[in-house]
Amino acid sequence: MKTFARRMAAVIAWAMITTSDAGARDFAPDATNLPAYTLPDPLKAADGKAETTAEGWTKSRRAEVLELFRTHVFGRVPPAAAAAGAVKSEVVGVDPGAIDGTATLKRLKFTATHGGKSLVFTASLFIPNAAPKPVPAFILICNRGATNIDPSRVLRSDFWPAEEILARGYATAAYQVGEIDPDRKDGYTEGVRALFDDGAPAPDAWATLSAWAWGASRILDHLETDPAIAKGKVAVIGHSRGGKTALWSAAQDERFGLACVNESGCGGANLLRRRFEGRESVARINKNFPYWFNANFKRYDNREDDLPVDHHMLSALVAPRWVHVGSAEEDLWADPRGEFLGLVHAAPVYALLGKKGLGSREMPPIGVPLRGDGLAYHIRAGKHNLGLEDWRAYLDTADRAFRP
Ligand code: GCU
Repeated sequence: MKTFARRMAAVIAWAMITTSDAGARDFAPDATNLPAYTLPDPLKAADGKAETTAEGWTKSRRAEVLELFRTHVFGRVPPAAAAAGAVKSEVVGVDPGAIDGTATLKRLKFTATHGGKSLVFTASLFIPNAAPKPVPAFILICNRGATNIDPSRVLRSDFWPAEEILARGYATAAYQVGEIDPDRKDGYTEGVRALFDDGAPAPDAWATLSAWAWGASRILDHLETDPAIAKGKVAVIGHSRGGKTALWSAAQDERFGLACVNESGCGGANLLRRRFEGRESVARINKNFPYWFNANFKRYDNREDDLPVDHHMLSALVAPRWVHVGSAEEDLWADPRGEFLGLVHAAPVYALLGKKGLGSREMPPIGVPLRGDGLAYHIRAGKHNLGLEDWRAYLDTADRAFRP
């Protein structure tokens, strides 16, 4: 009873401040006259009733919020693509002495089949040899060129610092999003959506980010069959458009224990209603990348306030599992403060589920990660990128989440 009363007090305290952020200190120097905005309450159901129990959230409201994101933002995966057996995975190569004998490299091949046609995509998985098994793992959604995830390690990129991840006792897999759905306006016919869609896509049909997130789940399906990988201890990580995808992956697939959401901006961790001048708006993202989100999302160009969700609710869908959002000081396009506030306003759901959330409403200093319970945030100096400093912050959060 005492715990319940404490949780309720926390929820009520949060609910009272969930409305406007216009007076708060803004991160960017030019953002002085930000219009006020009102966020939808993640705990308030369609019938206006506020959810007051963890059970109510888990059994009913959570599914409602997930459906809102499917309908209005990312689209829904067709049942044929989600069905067991829609994708076959195979280990097509094993090198037990990879990276100077420190790791085992497995080359994975995935074949999706539907209506007599098929599509192949691949992933590379490194497992540290010396670490006691099973080990936790990171799945990297790679939205950059293949040279960033070179399994031969002739080319090494800090976008996927496999050596460092392995040395920390984690396995890691990486896949190239373009193999699943091309990152192009005219790529539909070459991707997995065309394979599984019957007829023209509906306004709420899956779009490219959903297809990439579906891919992360298929790779997780495979990792769950590998006895070297610890179940429930798999993180999904992505940068920018890959960060948007990582958060959407973990929101839908409850087997992910942690989402590492790097500089994801609009459509990822930040708040769409926060009209910070330097940011990417819904209208801009829909114009430049119309294939990332479903057709319904176009209705919200310059009408963010009409959306029944905002993106604090996307992070809330991951609760009580971990979300770590990362920003970069110079990455104003992604609105660092909006990314931070997305987590602040996800906290009522964490509180209801018995987690402290971020534990602060103040942005931490540059280069000093803030880790609460279930939620973490960092902002580092520099430009839009995923690099070693980010990875180290995410690995530290994974240690907290998976090896408390
Ligand atoms: C563009 C786009 C962003 C995206 C970024 C990226 O800048 O506007 O929404 O996050 O590309 O993926 O690098």
